[in-house]
Amino acid sequence: MTVQVWTHCDIATLQAGHAQPYGLVADAALVVEGGQIAWVGPRSQLPAGLAARCTREHDAGGALVTPGLIDCHTHLVYGGDRAHEFELRLQGATYEDIARAGGGISSTVKATRAASEEELEAQSRKRLQALLAEGVTTLEIKSGYGLALAHERKALRVARALGRSQPVEVRTTFLGAHALPPEFAGRQDAYVDEVIRMLPLLHAEGLVDAVDAFCERIAFSTAQTERVFQAAQALGLRVKLHAEQLSDSGGAELAARYGALSCDHLEWLSEQGAAAMAQAGSVAVLLPGAFYFLRETKLPPVQLLRSHQVPMAISTDCNPGSSPCTSLLLMLNMACTLFRLTPEEALAGVTRHAAQALGLSDRGEIAAGQRADFVLWDVAHPAQLAYAFGANPRLQTVFKGEPV
Ligand code: NIG
Ligand code: FE
Repeated sequence: MTVQVWTHCDIATLQAGHAQPYGLVADAALVVEGGQIAWVGPRSQLPAGLAARCTREHDAGGALVTPGLIDCHTHLVYGGDRAHEFELRLQGATYEDIARAGGGISSTVKATRAASEEELEAQSRKRLQALLAEGVTTLEIKSGYGLALAHERKALRVARALGRSQPVEVRTTFLGAHALPPEFAGRQDAYVDEVIRMLPLLHAEGLVDAVDAFCERIAFSTAQTERVFQAAQALGLRVKLHAEQLSDSGGAELAARYGALSCDHLEWLSEQGAAAMAQAGSVAVLLPGAFYFLRETKLPPVQLLRSHQVPMAISTDCNPGSSPCTSLLLMLNMACTLFRLTPEEALAGVTRHAAQALGLSDRGEIAAGQRADFVLWDVAHPAQLAYAFGANPRLQTVFKGEPV
């Protein structure tokens, strides 16, 4: 087996509990064996026996190395776009007005249903490639624009196919309870029954890694969400939730009761919600792109999350309606400027805490035993990744030990 070593670099390991900010190791060496990290530390301390076994040496040229970035909340697979609704909102309509008038998610459902699997994959691949160009090595993709078995299946199959054809690991989430499809107008509970019927079928096809719902006054109630969670639990699937984005519905507390991996958005999160998340070990996924694009003014309660020690992740929420964004680096910047996270919190939010939000313990840090997913950057200090916006200082991505 080849043993590779990278030297002439500083490494932001992002290891939890490390003595240095960002888990920074200056003048480091990183040894990779069989797709996994075998050793990381100061180059001067690299054990001679291990150094002797290295068959491939990489000079990182003074780069900064971080873990591969993880985008833990996306709706990347969809048809069409919603630029017209952007124009309407600029003329004064709100996101909720548009949704209530039959636009919003429903218009993307129409376009997604109309697209063939090949078309959907071609459109979505462009968005994925933009994320990969910025060092993303794992991403989550939700369904939720099909809202009928054949179309939810199509979207999830596209998500899986993208993961096979690109150097990235895709985790899929079934978001059948995203919106009410037109054929169920006025029959919300009947549609929830349909979601519960679809879930085991899609799961049996290997298409579902987790289950999400949109709990909101324009979407599904907590009682309806709970029925979806029970169906997930019966299959042994972990849940997560779009919670308290536009109002406080108590979704976070409900999700916490089901041991949710994460609660996402959270602008309207209450103190009880934060406490429940802390107790359940749920990650708070903050989505500054949606906050910015919808011109929200209510900030997520970052100080509350800190005081309850709820881990915070950051994601693009890449979707056509509330965050048509394919830049996770821009989200790092916005998490700091808009939400006042520190650059270190933001970087942990797209690495260690994003991994936790997906229930993945084998990545998100640079440490022995972790997957060898990492990125070489042309920056001198990790804060520069959050500081410069519109820049892309990526030099190289290494995915499962292989430079891509
Ligand atoms: O995460 N909140 C619900 N879902 C998406 C938006 C979906 C859409 O508008 O198409 C979100 O913001
Ligand atoms: Fe979302």
